[in-house]
Amino acid sequence: MPPAHLYLLTLTLLCPGVLGENDRPIIGIITQEVSDDVFLQYGKTYIADSYVKFLESAGSRVVPIRLNLSEDEYFHLFHSINGVLLPGGAVNILSSSFARTAGIFYRLAIEAASSGIYFPVWGTCLGLQLLTVLTSEMDLLSSTSAENISLPLILTDEVSSSKMLGNAPLKLLQAVSQENITANFHHFGITPKAFLGNKKLSTFYRILSTNHDQNGVEFVSTIEARDYPIYAVQWHPEVNRFQWRSDLAFPHSANAIWISQYLANFFVNEARKNPNHFSNPKEEESSLIYNWPVTYTANISSYEQAYFFD
Ligand SMILES: *[C@@H]1O[C@H](CO)[C@@H](O)[C@H](O)[C@H]1NC(C)=O
Ligand SMILES: *[C@@H]1O[C@H](CO)[C@@H](O)[C@H](O)[C@H]1NC(C)=O
Ligand SMILES: *[C@@H]1O[C@H](CO)[C@@H](O)[C@H](O)[C@H]1NC(C)=O
Ligand SMILES: *[C@@H]1O[C@H](CO)[C@@H](O)[C@H](O)[C@H]1NC(C)=O
Repeated sequence: MPPAHLYLLTLTLLCPGVLGENDRPIIGIITQEVSDDVFLQYGKTYIADSYVKFLESAGSRVVPIRLNLSEDEYFHLFHSINGVLLPGGAVNILSSSFARTAGIFYRLAIEAASSGIYFPVWGTCLGLQLLTVLTSEMDLLSSTSAENISLPLILTDEVSSSKMLGNAPLKLLQAVSQENITANFHHFGITPKAFLGNKKLSTFYRILSTNHDQNGVEFVSTIEARDYPIYAVQWHPEVNRFQWRSDLAFPHSANAIWISQYLANFFVNEARKNPNHFSNPKEEESSLIYNWPVTYTANISSYEQAYFFD
C-alpha cells in the first residue's frame, strides 16, 4: 500500500473529476436540420450561436453533435464529453434525425447513471418537449401559444428543494417570479394536467414552474428530473444575453441577464461533475466547434450568428 498522498495523486491523475471537479468541461450541442429555406444555402444542419455562447459564458467549450452518425460514433462521443444540450428549434420531435440523436444521448445518460456516471442533459423549448417524449414514450403535447412574449415564472413548492433553483438567491427568485424576463417562442407545450396524468413523467420529473399562454392555457415551463441530472425549460434563457432583434421580445434587463447567467453557471457546473475526456488532445481539438466558421445571420433570422454543418 503506497502512502495515502501518493495513492490520491495517482487517482487524481488517472481520473480527474473523481476527487476534484473537471475544470475543462466540454458540452455537446445536438445539431438540428434547418427548417428555414434561407438557411439551406449554408448547410443542412445548424446550431444557433446563442446556445454556444450560453455554455461558453460559464466556462465550457462546445462540441457540435452531428446528425446521422452511427450508434458507435455517438457512443464514443458520449464517453468523450461532459454533458449535452438539446436546443430549441422547429423539427419533428418524433421523426427527425435531431430527435433520434437526442434519444441516443438521453438513453446513454440514463444508462451511465446506473454505473455511477453523472452525465447532465439540458433541454430548451423544443428540447423540453423532446425530453417529455423520450421519457413518456408518448407525444403529450398540445397547442399552447406563447409566441414572442416574456413572462414571469409561476414557481412551484418544488423549487426550494430543487438542484436547479434551490440555491438561487431570494432576490433572483423574486425577479424571475415577478418580472417579464423569461422569453417564450412556442406554439406547443405540455399542460400540467397531461404531465401529472402521465405516470412516467410525474415520477421521473418534478415541475419547478408553470405559465399561462396567450389564451390562458397553462403549460409546464421548467422541470428537473428527480434522480438524474436532467433539466429543461420551455422558455429561452439564452436569448436574454445573446439575441438582439429589436422587433422581438428578448428581455435584456439586469435581472434578465442574471437568470440567464445563473442557469448557464448551474448547468456547466453540473458538467464539471463528469470526468469524461477525449482520448487525446488532437481528437479533442478537432471536435470543438472552433473548427467551424460562424456565419452572420442577423439579417435573415432571429439569431445573430449560426454554425452550419453538412
Ligand atoms: C440523415 O439521414 C436521413 C435519412 O437517410 C436523410 O434524409 C437526411 O438528409 C440525413 N441528414 C443529414 C444531415 O445528413
Ligand atoms: C408583463 O407583461 C404584461 C403583458 O404581457 C404586462 O401586463 C405586465 O404589466 C408586465 N409586468 C411587468 C412587471 O412589467
Ligand atoms: C414582439 O413583441 C414585442 C414586445 O411586446 C413587440 O414590440 C413586437 O412587435 C413583437 N414582434 C412581433 C414580430 O410580433
Ligand atoms: C445578410 O448579410 C450578409 C453579410 O453581410 C450578406 O452577405 C447577405 O447577402 C445578407 N442577406 C440578405 C438576405 O440581406
